[in-house]
Amino acid sequence: MSEPILTVRGLSKTFVSAGENLVILRDLDFSLSPGKRVVIIGESGCGKSTFLNIVGGLEAATSGTVSAGPYEVHALSERELSSYRGSFVGLVFQFHYLLKDFTALENVMLPALMRGMKRREAADRARALLADVNLESRAAHYPSQMSGGERQRAAVARALVNEPQLVLADEPTGNLDPANAEVVRELLFSVVTRHGKALLLVTHDTETATLADERYRLVGGKLETA
Ligand SMILES: Nc1ncnc2c1ncn2[C@@H]1O[C@H](COP(=O)(O)OP(=O)(O)OP(=O)(O)O)[C@@H](O)[C@H]1O
Ligand SMILES: [Mg+2]
Repeated sequence: MSEPILTVRGLSKTFVSAGENLVILRDLDFSLSPGKRVVIIGESGCGKSTFLNIVGGLEAATSGTVSAGPYEVHALSERELSSYRGSFVGLVFQFHYLLKDFTALENVMLPALMRGMKRREAADRARALLADVNLESRAAHYPSQMSGGERQRAAVARALVNEPQLVLADEPTGNLDPANAEVVRELLFSVVTRHGKALLLVTHDTETATLADERYRLVGGKLETA
């Protein structure tokens, strides 16, 4: 067994809303090995996005620890967090968040440029990733000139451009019709495998879960094997 790439211990998250404590994650433990593709399912509102956002360094936990590779995520400063988010993890969201004034190629290049990669190298890498998600012919298109499925595939390419160790995907197919969902789902899983990454995907869609190496259900703030 190789060392986990992600270890979550005793994770809790409580929101305070209208004076009431809303316990969303309750002393949750989880670990993910390199090369594994894990899907977490659960009903709407059970805390899937909250969990993924905490792992991705986008949201703080109430208590508990998150270790990802060399990063103690719960203890990072804002500055360290942005390095973690920009290099160690690759994020794919339900709504793609491509920048509308940039082409598909430029959108994929941007995270690499922000890390200081030379323009030529970033463009080469972005082009190869667009080919991986069957979007070679859409490199010069702006998001408004792409279909929903194409945008989501571009978002998958963008998430991989900095060669993250850990790909985090939040309902990456939730916004797509069944045919496009199928394409994006298969591409995401195969691209992640081909690039030797670990994948943590959360969804309420049980179909997506069938592709996973391991499946869990988030219920009552904890993970159960599903
Ligand atoms: N900032 C916040 N303040 C108060 N409550 C919040 C906040 N963010 C989320 N919640 C609550 O936490 C719960 C979990 O939200 P979360 O977005 O993690 O659910 P989810 O499992 O991703 O749902 P979905 O499948 O609909 O995306 C929800 O009941 C939500 O209302
Ligand atoms: Mg969600």
